[in-house]
Amino acid sequence: MNKNVLVTGGAGYIGSHACKALREAGFVPVTFDNCSTGWAEAVKFGPLERGDLLDRARLDEVFAQYQPIAVMHFAALSQVGESMQEPGRYWRDNVTGALNLAEAAVAAGCLDFVFSSTCATYGDQDNVVLDENSQQLPINAYGASKRAIEDILSDFEAAYGLRSVIFRYFNVAGADPDAEVGEFHQPETHLIPLMLDAIDGKRDALTIFGTDYDTPDGTCIRDYVHVCDLVDAHVLGLKWLKDGKDSRVFNLGTGDGFSVRQVISHSHAVTNRDVPYVEGARRAGDCTKLVSGSTRAVAELGWEPKRSNLQAMIKDAWRWHQKTEAHYKA
Ligand code: UFG
Repeated sequence: MNKNVLVTGGAGYIGSHACKALREAGFVPVTFDNCSTGWAEAVKFGPLERGDLLDRARLDEVFAQYQPIAVMHFAALSQVGESMQEPGRYWRDNVTGALNLAEAAVAAGCLDFVFSSTCATYGDQDNVVLDENSQQLPINAYGASKRAIEDILSDFEAAYGLRSVIFRYFNVAGADPDAEVGEFHQPETHLIPLMLDAIDGKRDALTIFGTDYDTPDGTCIRDYVHVCDLVDAHVLGLKWLKDGKDSRVFNLGTGDGFSVRQVISHSHAVTNRDVPYVEGARRAGDCTKLVSGSTRAVAELGWEPKRSNLQAMIKDAWRWHQKTEAHYKA
């Protein structure tokens, strides 16, 4: 039986971990990636088909060649700060790209779709428990582009029967404990890898973006989830659809929030090294606090986050970070 799953963005950080999890679950992950922010070397668990989501003919070709039983859609621009400076790219690449993909999937009769959305769709809602029924009020173009894709999927279900599992991620961190794949962005913008770089002198001190937020220590609070736990949820989401269950939205977070200063102190504890940092201005588009208030994924999907404690995530990221030969070519 065909076990092909089309993984867009399979050369990226989360997509490459998803490919490993799919492979281990008996599927064949077929990566579709233009390698603009991902790395061909990260595609280790199935074939790589180079292509751009804006190229509909190329998408049709790959659907025809592999006849995937489902799509997992990770490919996207995903930097909050950048999305505020270049919103057009976010609307074009993320929304038009996903629209092309959804249309190609429908045309190929591939009607199960797992989508990587984000807690950034909720925006900055003070004192609101963020569960799947919370209002989606994004404050940056990145979150807005992901919310738009959720709307596309809902309309495509009504019109064409394209069923979806939508995951709204909180902050993804850590790396494969075997260090076969890991997080490596060029340029890097994420807190934990930047901090590890600063710890071992690969770059200047970390800048804390804003120390005047309305939080106990003045820095932003995030809910960090281990990338391996996150991709395990995707495999469960795929099985959910294959079992014929209804489309569903799931938050993926632990419910524990950590401030930037707390992440720094946990990193010190894990690495036993000082974290050089300076205090800087706020970054446009940043929410004060994003913490999941839902256990739906645990209750309904049977998701068991096993590695999502902050020190374990930093430890796995540090292992990957130190295995420099494992890093992809810049
Ligand atoms: N931060 C710093 N200094 C840095 C980098 C980050 O202080 O050099 C702070 C940010 O201001 C933020 C926190 O660390 O408060 C986390 O920032 P990241 O850039 O690591 O992550 P974001 O929260 O901006 O974004 C990430 C993903 C998005 C996702 C979002 C949900 O990149 O895809 O989490 O919160 F939508």
